[in-house]
Amino acid sequence: MKTKLKLGLFGYGIVGQGLHDVLNSNSGLRAEIARICVKDRSKKRRISMDYFTYDKNDLLNDPEINLIVELIDDADEAFSIVTAAMKKGKNVVTANKKMVAEHLKELVQLQEETNTSFLYEASTCGSIPIIRNLEEYYDNEMLYSVRGIFNGSSNYILSKMFSDGKDFDSVLKEAQDLGYAETDPSLDVDGIDAKYKLIIITLHAYGLFIDPKDVFTFGISNISNYDINYAREKGFKIKLVPTVTKLQDSDIGMHVIPRFISNGKFLYNVDNEYNGVIAEAAFFDKQFFYGKGAGGHPTGSAVLSDISACTYDYKYEYKKKNQQAIKNYSSDLLLEIYLRYHDKSDIKDFNFKSVSEYYYGSKHNFLIGVINLKDLIKIQDKLKSRDIFIVNTGRKFD
Ligand code: HSE
Repeated sequence: MKTKLKLGLFGYGIVGQGLHDVLNSNSGLRAEIARICVKDRSKKRRISMDYFTYDKNDLLNDPEINLIVELIDDADEAFSIVTAAMKKGKNVVTANKKMVAEHLKELVQLQEETNTSFLYEASTCGSIPIIRNLEEYYDNEMLYSVRGIFNGSSNYILSKMFSDGKDFDSVLKEAQDLGYAETDPSLDVDGIDAKYKLIIITLHAYGLFIDPKDVFTFGISNISNYDINYAREKGFKIKLVPTVTKLQDSDIGMHVIPRFISNGKFLYNVDNEYNGVIAEAAFFDKQFFYGKGAGGHPTGSAVLSDISACTYDYKYEYKKKNQQAIKNYSSDLLLEIYLRYHDKSDIKDFNFKSVSEYYYGSKHNFLIGVINLKDLIKIQDKLKSRDIFIVNTGRKFD
């Protein structure tokens, strides 16, 4: 018999309202929203005010509410709500990738201690069911890598710059108006949101808890039309591609870097707010997931799927963590990168192992060379403020 769910919903923004619509159109699910807790008292709401409260304890202390659905923006407040709910024995569904990625170890432990379900499919790649697939389907074959496009806003910006020649700031504004971007859009364009999602994927793909601070992350905020045109001339698009790869022995490596994608590759036609995930392994070779990565209804549908999973007491078992096949996170891996720069001094800190191409122009220069990720990590903090852009060529090299 499925459990009947009474939901306590935190947040009634884009995703909260999206979930409400999706829930209203679903007749088979034994779940109803009991109360909604919001912050802003002045906002006009589109449903009866009887649902709303401004006091989180009205939801957390209500014994009738057996599932907390957390869809607020503030990651610290979300953490406090989610942990309080689990300690009271309530199951939790969340879409908050920052909160999940930054506290993953504690939250998994708390879920075990309190014997609750803690589900977060909607936190990672919107409507694409990647977490449950990694957990349930890919539970035996060792994955070579998981990579893709995990951030809808930056992909929207790259797509519109490429196809319509629009400038960065105006397309970022569009992504904000469409409700794709974070309240602080630097999380999107600097690759941080994509990194959070990579951290969550890595736990389910390889069983390791990784501190977000340890992952090299370079987003798209420094991109110029020169980079877009260079890519176009070579038959590429530029996409922001978070990647986790199995290295030798029992190690994995991770990074979030823009990447050249050639026509015919899975990610080439993943445009606008769409996301795509490629899983690679020895026997099944490559598999590709495609779907909307941002927006109220796509994300709401992933939240609904987790709510539905709670009706049959589903919880993640963290199978890869228990298998312990992967033991270490390493940043000792080589990448071939395109580096567009302005002043020669901009490249002095890069410790290239080899360089295969140089170009000096009147306004822009670039080079293509091989670098160790360890060396990029050492200079990570200095990169954004310089007039440079980095793209992983994705090419194999000797
Ligand atoms: N800002 C996020 C994105 C929302 O653009 O992908 C979905 O997580």
